[in-house]
Amino acid sequence: MHRRTVCLIAILMTTPVMAHDGVKDPMVMARMDAMSAVGKAAKTLGEMAKGEAPLHQAKARMARDTLSLGAGKIPALFESPATDPKSEALPLIWENWEDFTARAQAMQAAALELDFTTRNNLSKSMKTLGATCGGCHERYRMDK
Ligand code: HEC
Repeated sequence: MHRRTVCLIAILMTTPVMAHDGVKDPMVMARMDAMSAVGKAAKTLGEMAKGEAPLHQAKARMARDTLSLGAGKIPALFESPATDPKSEALPLIWENWEDFTARAQAMQAAALELDFTTRNNLSKSMKTLGATCGGCHERYRMDK
């Protein structure tokens, strides 16, 4: 194989395939990063709720804090109607700003109500939280 081809393959293999790659607008990047952190925290708790990971109180609290802080940041992060070809945010956000921010508040309230005393309780309270994610995405995030 040609040296250059090998080199190219190496680059392709080490470049993470991320939705954020190539996002130029800093506001869009910031809100996508914040949403990613929210997604990761929700995944951590989801795994605990499903029994795929042990119910770890300190980790659960950290994930809860990430979720509630993340929700609190949504209004400021989305305030500017910044766009980017890679963004999945729909213009409807800025036409229904009050509804959008109310949904962020609902997410924060659900995050603060997360109950990780038992797996069952975590599972139930994660459903309530998940509905707040899904409800907002359904209206304001592009289908992929
Ligand atoms: C108030 C509305 C709203 C709520 C609530 C919300 N999201 Fe989002 N989310 C969005 C929007 C809008 C985008 C698209 C942002 C963009 O691409 O500019 C998004 C994008 C994402 C992404 C993709 C981020 C990326 O890498 O580009 C993930 C993951 C995500 N949300 C997870 C969650 C989870 C998990 C919850 C609930 C715990 C949640 N979101 C709650 C509006 C919301």
